[in-house]
Amino acid sequence: MRVDLLAGTVHATPAPLPARPPTILVFDSGLGGLTVFKEIVRARPDARFVYAADDAGFPYGRWEEGELVKRVVNVMARLILAHAPDLVVVACNTASTLVLPALRARFAVPFVGTVPAIKPAVERSRTRHVAVLATPGTVKRDYTQELIRSFAGDCRVTLVGSTRLASLAEARLRGEPVEDDAIAPELMPCFPTDGAPTDVVVLGCTHYPLLSDSLERLAPWPVTWIDPAPAIARRVTNLIGLPLLGHEGDEESVAVFTGGAELGDALRRALAERGLATVVIDPVPVA
Ligand code: DGL
Repeated sequence: MRVDLLAGTVHATPAPLPARPPTILVFDSGLGGLTVFKEIVRARPDARFVYAADDAGFPYGRWEEGELVKRVVNVMARLILAHAPDLVVVACNTASTLVLPALRARFAVPFVGTVPAIKPAVERSRTRHVAVLATPGTVKRDYTQELIRSFAGDCRVTLVGSTRLASLAEARLRGEPVEDDAIAPELMPCFPTDGAPTDVVVLGCTHYPLLSDSLERLAPWPVTWIDPAPAIARRVTNLIGLPLLGHEGDEESVAVFTGGAELGDALRRALAERGLATVVIDPVPVA
């Protein structure tokens, strides 16, 4: 495994180029991976995409580590068997900071992960104080601590594990009103009042860019926000190459949900706007 220092992504060695447009599986616990999916579609518009949301297991931020490894490997086995992807993007920090070694040990397909972009944040900070806004799972991972030990140097890193933001982001995409009063208390711990002010915030959960407009408005002063999605899309094209010309939209992309619940109209519309008009509900109940 190599860690891409600039991109904040973890990736496998390059895969051989397929002669046809690839199938790319983008995986998350829920709808947050759509923020990464969007950038990958831009980079490989010819690909066939499977967007998989393990909504039966959402939120991953609260899972005990051993159970989460089992859960993700189990759901991934089913998805790989059903869709035979050429590449899998784990568009979830909470899973990537824990499960990538187990996934790589079990499956031959290359995986691109998403981990908190601590190194680029530290490089950009002038005040030498950055914050990582993530899930409670991601902030307590050994992997995240190791990123800080390796790359933070003299820079203070404030880790903030939000219990509510991912669910609020999901609610917004489902068309429900999400008030500032709910978002602000989750964000404010990124800005402790002692010491130098925070000047860079890492969006360490793929759900959070869905709330970017509110986060930017509610921050007490302007900061640089780091969303890893463009770097992940670059990693994908590094691994499987640039688009094959003349193939855009050859094969229909599909969204797969592991919960049994019917999706509401607003969410179906949001998915269709992103090129995911076909939705498959394939229940994988939590044991
Ligand atoms: N989108 C996920 C992440 O990037 C996690 C949200 C959750 O399931 O708690 O960390």
